Amino acid sequence: MSYQSEYNASIDTPENFWAEQANQLPWYTPPKNILSKDENGMDRWFADGVMNTCYMAVDHHVNSGRGEQNAIIFDSPVSDTKYTLTFAQLQDKVATFAGALAAKGVGKGDRVVIYMPMIPEAVIAMLAVARLGAIHSVVFGGFAPNELAVRIDDATPKVIVTASCGIEISKIISYKPLVDAAIEQASHKPDSVIVFQREQVTAEMHAPRDIDWNDAVANASPAEPVPVNGTDPLYILYTSGTTGTPKGVVRDNGGHAAALFYSMKAIYNVEAGDVYWAASDVGWVVGHSYIVYGPLLKGCTTVVYEGKPVRTPDAGGFWRMCEEYKISTLFAAPTAFRAIKKEDPDGKLIEQYDLSALNNIFMAGERLDPPTYDWTVEKTGKPVIDHWWQTETGWAICGNLLGVEAKAPKPGSATLPTPGFKVEVLDDDGNVLPANTQGSIAIKLPLPPSCLPSIWGNFERFKESYLTEFPGYYCSGDGGYIDEDGYVFIMGRTDDVINIAGHRLSTGEMEEVVAAHPAVAECSVIGVKDELKGQLPVGLVILKDGVEIDEATLFADLKASMVKQIGPIACFKEALIVNRLPKTRSGKILRKILRQIADGQSYTVPSTIDDPASLDEISSVMKEKSLI
Ligand code: COA
Ligand code: AMP
Repeated sequence: MSYQSEYNASIDTPENFWAEQANQLPWYTPPKNILSKDENGMDRWFADGVMNTCYMAVDHHVNSGRGEQNAIIFDSPVSDTKYTLTFAQLQDKVATFAGALAAKGVGKGDRVVIYMPMIPEAVIAMLAVARLGAIHSVVFGGFAPNELAVRIDDATPKVIVTASCGIEISKIISYKPLVDAAIEQASHKPDSVIVFQREQVTAEMHAPRDIDWNDAVANASPAEPVPVNGTDPLYILYTSGTTGTPKGVVRDNGGHAAALFYSMKAIYNVEAGDVYWAASDVGWVVGHSYIVYGPLLKGCTTVVYEGKPVRTPDAGGFWRMCEEYKISTLFAAPTAFRAIKKEDPDGKLIEQYDLSALNNIFMAGERLDPPTYDWTVEKTGKPVIDHWWQTETGWAICGNLLGVEAKAPKPGSATLPTPGFKVEVLDDDGNVLPANTQGSIAIKLPLPPSCLPSIWGNFERFKESYLTEFPGYYCSGDGGYIDEDGYVFIMGRTDDVINIAGHRLSTGEMEEVVAAHPAVAECSVIGVKDELKGQLPVGLVILKDGVEIDEATLFADLKASMVKQIGPIACFKEALIVNRLPKTRSGKILRKILRQIADGQSYTVPSTIDDPASLDEISSVMKEKSLI
């Protein structure tokens, strides 16, 4: 099959194409209604199919003879722990934990928030929630209590599942006090908190709300998978938007299972039984799709790694893992490889390991810059595949379909649109732009399976965020161009989202934190280029009249507030005191120009600008600080 015929089939006869993919999964009742409209007028996949994602990802493999194959490899250099779980053992643990959740009143459609480090219990908790037909919302452990509280209030969970601690290299981070603080701050109160006690820290428990994981499972009877419809939600995953309030991306069960199952062969070219490792975190979409659901749906062995690409103990950690577990596919963010490159520029550590089982290295989460691409190809000798995706889609929008027809890569490009995605580049008026012309990247509706049908509890925000700017299209928020061969180049966000070390964060949210400082009259937060982490946030601040504070003190205050309000992953880099910010005559800050200045791009001074000289001032302040 050629890429072109596969792609054309997905666009010309989408219902046939996706019915064929869906039919490879073990539904209780296979869908007949392949593509339909919901009450909001959104396209939905497999509405009448009856299934359970946990059954498809776990029980089905036990039933079909894979019970003794490893489902999970756990490797934690930070706690010096390694073990494996077979599909049969995983089934047992998931069914029992589902029973424990059911005993706490969790049923179909209820929400469960999961705030866990990278340990197998995080995966078990997710699958157990799915088993009950309930909806999980995993919150990344690097987010502060305030962020967790916002998500608790939006998702209104019956239960929160957490662990006593996470381990960040050698730093032990107690999670339970963070969860307690978040619950204290939130208006919604969960009925129960289930805590997995790790040996490094024993969490303080508040009876009767808090329950030890081990006690909960000791008294539980295993729960059977609960049948759900294809369009019932599997999870909510909050992601940064342009405002301070994160968006609860909703993922349905049926489309998600079909798209991920398809992707494992078509994109990653893996088979059941292969060892597949996405070196991410279950708190991000890559973790949801390719640590948990994708590999398990396919019957692969997945890897849960509690460590970093460097310093656990060195920059050879990834290669040690690849050798030890015969990993066939490695997937991580470019930042991880930049970190490795920085510490092992000549690839000496790579040479120490046997990478013969490793077929391909995939990267996503941020732009893969050509120097990182070239270094990884040269030092590992492996094909490196860039692919572009978002929390909203749950799988790659563009990639190189190794399982269909591998195309020659072009560094800097995520290759070609994935089947189902009609990718176009539009100008500000929504006109399709010719090849090699930069604009907004949009996807023509209908979106293929797995893409979000709404934002949790807020369809209007969904419409406004994604569907209004270019009618008939989903607006991705990314800019870029398509070349004469159809290769897609993603150049960066066109909105107030920035990408720090592969972590998606909102400058709008950071502005709220900066603006709350008593000395600050006005501010703007922009992402500046960083060699390791891709982008880092810098605050441009106008002080209130009469206030005296030096830049260093202001920065220290703001950095502390960022850690407290957002979390350590905000990585606030610098606060610059300026006299003015570029604004329109109606007082709106011209963020696009600030972004262009930070990216070193040329810009046109808009006629609506109130004070053009502010642009020169900002540029020279940033140059002075070597930020551009
Ligand atoms: N829980 C608590 N704190 C966390 C955390 C977690 N799960 N993850 C990160 N943090 C903290 C870190 O301890 C650090 O705190 P500090 O500033 O007090 O030291 C801060 O958040 C920043 O962390 P990080 O971005 O991981 O920076 P780093 O300098 O420790 O490591 C890299 C740099 C490049 C090794 C690391 O960013 C990395 O592995 N990046 C790849 C990211 C990735 O895989 N993303 C997945 C998206 S696909
Ligand atoms: P997230 O939703 O956290 O996965 O972040 C999605 C965003 O990360 C996208 O909108 C892009 O801005 C960026 N991104 C992800 N993958 C790539 C890629 N391969 N190339 C360029 N940017 C990417």
